[in-house]
Amino acid sequence: MNVYAMQQEVLRLKKEKDMCILAHSYVAREISEIADFVGDSYMLSVKAESVPNQNVLLCGVRFMAETVKILSPEKHVFLSNPVAGCPMAEQMDKDMIAQVKAQLPDYTVMAYVNTTAELKTIADVCVTSSSAVKIARAIDNDKILFIPDCNLGAFVAKSVPEKTVRLLQGGCPVHAAVRPDAVRAAKQLHPDALVLVHPECVPGVTEQADYVGSTSGIMDFAKASQAKEFIIGTEISIAEHLQYDCPDKSFYPLTKDLICPNMKSTTLVDVYRVLTGQAGEEILMDAETITQARRCIDKMIELGG
Ligand code: 13P
Ligand code: SF4
Repeated sequence: MNVYAMQQEVLRLKKEKDMCILAHSYVAREISEIADFVGDSYMLSVKAESVPNQNVLLCGVRFMAETVKILSPEKHVFLSNPVAGCPMAEQMDKDMIAQVKAQLPDYTVMAYVNTTAELKTIADVCVTSSSAVKIARAIDNDKILFIPDCNLGAFVAKSVPEKTVRLLQGGCPVHAAVRPDAVRAAKQLHPDALVLVHPECVPGVTEQADYVGSTSGIMDFAKASQAKEFIIGTEISIAEHLQYDCPDKSFYPLTKDLICPNMKSTTLVDVYRVLTGQAGEEILMDAETITQARRCIDKMIELGG
């Protein structure tokens, strides 16, 4: 079967199986083309709640499928490729954070959505890259312990200087690997381009950017901008999607190494195989974990996402 024929078969099967396909914007183009919704982590987590389908297939990484399950426990939620995890989400566990929490009892624990469901059970509020700054400002405590991403946490601390933000040593291995020199080199090659980067990059990179935001934020900024050239400092697929969406503009990946192997591990064949009952994993979670993990996500939605 060629790609087009498989896409047609997936479109037919997802109707037959009452399956909604949610795809993170980092997954391959042949998947985003057949998805019902494509977006950043925040958009995907809230979208799942409002779709009428009984079944949801998440094309992205495990914590995203878990978040969908927490918000829609009555739905059958599947992860298209069970090996797709986010290394950052696994960096800190519940016991470790419980110990730090005990030492900092007057701090609000703010957890990036890139965390396991288990870790979310002891967080006070959840945030995504698009909502972290807004929620840090809105939360009724001036002391914040930000976990696990120290780069997103540093960006929050800089953007909300009136609050004390404590950080731990965690982060995204893909974004954190981009060195500040790479920005200088890309600017030399493309002097007229605006630099748009994800806040998971190190401060030496975000400080040189014209815009810092989530994957959707970067895409919206580039589409609305009058500029014609952009250096894209996030997973390489965003430059590709933008190039399709705006053929009159030019998009240059900040480095060729900005590839998330976990996001890339999901293929169209995986999606087809889930729909034909040959592969994939249904996310199962006990009721107590769902209830406890949901509190910090509800708090995020209450504070405006
Ligand atoms: P977004 O919140 O921008 O979707 O980012 C998720 C992610 O994993 C970035 O590396
Ligand atoms: Fe996790 Fe980084 Fe991949 Fe995003 S890009 S899923 S944070 S490893």
